[in-house]
Formats: sequence, structure tokens, C-alpha cells
Amino acid sequence: MRISVIGCGYLGAVHAACMAKLGHEVVGIDVDSRKIEELSAARAPFYEPGLEDLLREVQQTGRLSFTTDSSAAAGSAVHFICVGTPQKMGENGADLTYVDAATTDLLPYLAPGDLVVGKSTVPVGTAARLAVLVQAQQADAHLVWNPEFLREGHALADTLHPDRFVYGVNDGSEDHPAVAILDEIYSAPLSSGTPRLVTDHATAELVKTAANSFLATKISFINAMAELCEAAGADVTQLADAIGMDDRIGRKFLNAGIGFGGGCLPKDIRAFMARAGELGADQALTFLREVDAINMRRRTRVVELTRELCEGSLLGKRITVLGAAFKPESDDVRDSPALSIAAQLQLQGAVVTVTDPKALANAARRFPELQYEPDTGKAVRGSDALLLLTEWQEYRELDPYELAATLRNPHILDGRNVLDAAKWRAAGWNYRGLGRP
Ligand code: UDX
Repeated sequence: MRISVIGCGYLGAVHAACMAKLGHEVVGIDVDSRKIEELSAARAPFYEPGLEDLLREVQQTGRLSFTTDSSAAAGSAVHFICVGTPQKMGENGADLTYVDAATTDLLPYLAPGDLVVGKSTVPVGTAARLAVLVQAQQADAHLVWNPEFLREGHALADTLHPDRFVYGVNDGSEDHPAVAILDEIYSAPLSSGTPRLVTDHATAELVKTAANSFLATKISFINAMAELCEAAGADVTQLADAIGMDDRIGRKFLNAGIGFGGGCLPKDIRAFMARAGELGADQALTFLREVDAINMRRRTRVVELTRELCEGSLLGKRITVLGAAFKPESDDVRDSPALSIAAQLQLQGAVVTVTDPKALANAARRFPELQYEPDTGKAVRGSDALLLLTEWQEYRELDPYELAATLRNPHILDGRNVLDAAKWRAAGWNYRGLGRP
């Protein structure tokens, strides 16, 4: 099938490459010429494991190209909208400027029978509104909402082997002509057993925001339990293991620590609350305000704990932060809890050095006032306290005995509860976890 993918950020670049991998002929379109240059040379403009290899592989087949020219969408039967929906400046709602512009720019190139397929995370009601524009331009074209659930760091596997497909069509019917077309596009994963659900537009939009809200709630639930464990002298990691053994609860997404960040969960729960307010259903989501508050409180808690580790004062203390990305296997620093903590410590008088295997360039652009050192050994040397804030594998594997000698004071705060506390204490460290005695 001939496919256009509009927007070549995280979502779009991965989607374009994966659709070409599935055998389709794909053109990726983006207004950012730098991004297009990089992708055309099979270089990923961000770090995502496996993406560059996949770009190289599919570009050699001739099935994948990139351009800034929106007219390249003409001739494709299916057009995926993959642009961002960031939080509006100074407000909770989602900024739909890019989704609206991508759809409007596409309209002149639509042919009868074409599908416009939204993948971006949007407030419920957006698809119905855009469907009117599409049909006004081309009565025989259809708009579908087909939300994407990929996780950064696992984006290729999540796209090629998702847990499920959701097709939101205007009448919610299995017989809608768009269903057969999407089935053809996704025939490989469908034939290997991936389930798919056909819903109406509104349900499909809500599935995505509900899923992200549930995940955020799960993380904040366990972080609330961490607060309680701290007050009661209990261990939240054992508590999570024990409640997670009940398969109605499940152990996944119950890792207490510095909380969630990134380009999705924080802004998606806020946009969801804002939209609920517009719909007169704000009471239904007031709990998300608490989810957000618990999450933000983790960052303050880490600053307080670091002050405790530094004998009551941060002034002039040298702090090393291990990890800047919002999670491992990513160079994304959008709303990264690690960086927000690092910046707060610096504001309170500490001298903060941040290290990370992939995210330092992005971090330095966002917080130029912090010091950055790519070499872990150098970053740690002479430090008064070490903060593990993003659980990259190489930090999990650090040797506490070797490291202890290089610090001024062997204090460590394990912000993700991934280190073996007993081992670090045996090596002479003053170890603190979050929600652990
Ligand atoms: C999320 C959703 O998982 C994905 O389905 C959706 O499409 C986009 O948003 P992503 O932002 O890539 O994906 O990250 P995710 O793996 O969900 O992690 C989000 C944040 O939660 C990270 O900062 C992570 O460190 C944190 N987290 C995750 C925890 O603090 N504890 C956990 O147990 C799990």
C-alpha cells in the first residue's frame, strides 16, 4: 500500500519505518528540514534502540522516503497523522495547532476512497471535528482514529507487535470501509494474533487517554504507598512485590521512585482533566489532580532527602546525578524528573554535575546552568553525594566497592530503588532508597 506519514517525530519516524518494514511504500513528511535531512540519510534525530538499523534496512529496499513537501502525500491511499499535541503554554489543555495544520495541509491532496488516520493523542471530540473537514473536501474519504500506544525505548517492538489495535470509525461499525483497509495495512501483526477492536471515534480517542491515565495512577499509587512506607518504616519494594503477585493488580508499573515524566503521561493527564471540564464531567477526573500532585511531590522529596544526606545543607555540596533522560533507553528529557531535581538542587546552592549515556546534549539545551560530564568516573569523582535518578543498566551495574573510593563522601540516593541496598551498605555506603527503611 502507498502510505504517507505526516509528522516525523518520535511517533511518525518510527511508524514510517515500521510501515515500510511491513512491506508498504511510505513517504514521511515533516516541516522540519533538519529532521528530514537526517532521516533521509538513515540517521535517527533522537535515540531509539534499533531505529537507525531499521531505517537503513528499509531505505535500501526503496520503500521509504522523506520530504518536506506536503504535496508528496498525493497518490497515497492512507495518510497517518503523527504530529505532536503538546501541553498549551500556561494551560492544562492540549495544543492542537499541529494536528489541525497537518490535516488542513493534507486536504487538497485527498482522493476518493482515501483514509486519513489519526495516531496522535488528542482530546475526545477532535476526530469528529476533523472528519467534517475531510468529508467537506472529499465526500468519499474517511477519517479514522487509530491511537498509538508505543513506549519510548521499545518503540519498534510496540509498533510491529502491539498489544492491540483500536480503529475508531464514525459509525463504530465493523463494516465501515476503513476497517478492511487498516486490516490490510496491519495484516502481518493481525495474522500473528494481535487483537483489534472497532469503536466509534470518541471511544478510540478515550482509550488512549484512559490507558495513560491508568498507568500514571498506578505509578502515583505506589509512590503514595512509598510516602506511607517512609512514615511507617516499611519497604515499598517488598510491598509492590507482594501486592503485584495478585494478578488482578500485577507487578508492572508499580516501581516507586522519583515519579513519571516524559512527553506523554504528565501532559496527557492534564489535557484529559481540561477536556473533562469542557464536557462538564470534571468531577470524574479530580483524582488525576491528586495523581499529578503525588508525582510532583516525589521531586521535592528527593531534594529534601539529598539535603539530609548532605548533613542538612546543600550549599556548596557537590552532587552527581546519574541519568538525565526521563527513563532509560531514551535521550528524551521532556519533563524529566531527574533533570528537574538536578535543577532544583542547583538552585538551592549545590554544585550539580549530570551524567547520562545518551541525553546530555538534550539536557544541556534545556538546563544550560547545570554541569554535564559524559564519563561516569569523572562525573562521580570528588562528589559529596550520588543520586541515581534514571536507571540505565550501566548504573545498575556500578561496583559500590570501586566507586566508594572516588567520592568525597560515599552517600547514595537510589531514586529508582534498583540497587541492592545491603550490598551498597556492606561496601561502606550511606544508602537511601525511596519508601525504604
Ligand atoms: C507512555 C505509555 O507507556 C505509552 O503506552 C504511551 O504510548 C506513551 O506514554 P512513555 O512515555 O514512553 O510511554 O514511558 P513509560 O514507559 O510509560 O514511562 C513513563 C514514566 O513513568 C517514566 O518516567 C518512567 O520512569 C516512569 N515509571 C514507569 C515509574 O516511575 N514507575 C514505573 O513503575 C513505571
